[in-house]
Amino acid sequence: MGGFELGAAGLVEGGLLMVFSLFVRDTGVPRELGEFLGDSAGYPEGFEDRDWRKVSPAILGERIEATDEERAEMGIHYTSEASILKVLNPLFLDDLREQKKAAGDSIRKLTALSDRVSQIKVFDPACGAGNFLIVAYKEMMKIAPVPLSNFYGIELQEFPAKVARLSLIIAMYQCGGGQDERSHIVCGNALRMSWEDVCPLDGEVYVCGNPPYRGSTWQSQEQKEDLRHVFSGRAKNWKSLDYVAGWFMKAAGYGADSGLVSTNSICQGQSVPILWPLVFETGCRIHFAYTSFKWCGDAGVTVAIIGLSR
Ligand SMILES: C[S@@+](CC[C@H](N)C(=O)[O-])C[C@H]1O[C@@H](n2cnc3c(N)ncnc32)[C@H](O)[C@@H]1O
Repeated sequence: MGGFELGAAGLVEGGLLMVFSLFVRDTGVPRELGEFLGDSAGYPEGFEDRDWRKVSPAILGERIEATDEERAEMGIHYTSEASILKVLNPLFLDDLREQKKAAGDSIRKLTALSDRVSQIKVFDPACGAGNFLIVAYKEMMKIAPVPLSNFYGIELQEFPAKVARLSLIIAMYQCGGGQDERSHIVCGNALRMSWEDVCPLDGEVYVCGNPPYRGSTWQSQEQKEDLRHVFSGRAKNWKSLDYVAGWFMKAAGYGADSGLVSTNSICQGQSVPILWPLVFETGCRIHFAYTSFKWCGDAGVTVAIIGLSR
């Protein structure tokens, strides 16, 4: 993990800071962000000439370029915007868009929709640089205003957590949102924390994301202990489960509707009789899913998307 931190913070932070500073220059995002930007001298050629108003904050996180080895160690496989929508659309965005269409010109119905959207919370418990939250925010803002304070995340590493906070602020400026709002991105271990403490489960809450995948053979001792924390007392043979299974179990226990990208191995072989009865025991059912498909970014990774609901 030390290697990843060094890779991200040491090698790439300069590039990111530069991107952000150009964004500030082109958009007039207030200088309060200067603290984060620091000294952005020495950035690559040509970057100054782009119009950073048009840059999607959802892709800023992609600039965190760990080596293949470091990515494998952390179970990191980054998600494209199209794949993110495969999760968010069936989870709740399609429903909001349909409600908007059905409302037509009715002020009463549009007001009801606006009230609903303004209270929806979106929570990514392995948020990386925040791309799911950013896409959710931007899509919701096309339907009705939603405060940035409705967006919650947990991320193990400090640097992507910082990027997530800042990228959300940039998205807010791009969408013309209320300007003194802040998201709730917590730096910590999602398998050791109470999700209720991070994102209280009141009203309409959706869990989304692309948590880390790591087969049992390749898990670190710490990751195995994380799984023990989630599964011991519930299952005897949890040790063969992929690390990502911890997020499905936590999501099921938390109780909000969820949509997570996962390695497809949790829907195959010995994982099925271990994980899924425990998930269904909580009262959850699968309410949408995509069967296995090849991952867009990382060759060799085959994923599934699974939506849970009570
Ligand atoms: C597969 S990446 C997804 C990141 C981003 N949402 C995306 O799709 O591009 C998983 C993220 O989970 C983080 N992570 C790994 N273990 C974690 C843990 N125990 N608790 C919270 N986050 C964790 C990693 O640092 C990484 O940023």
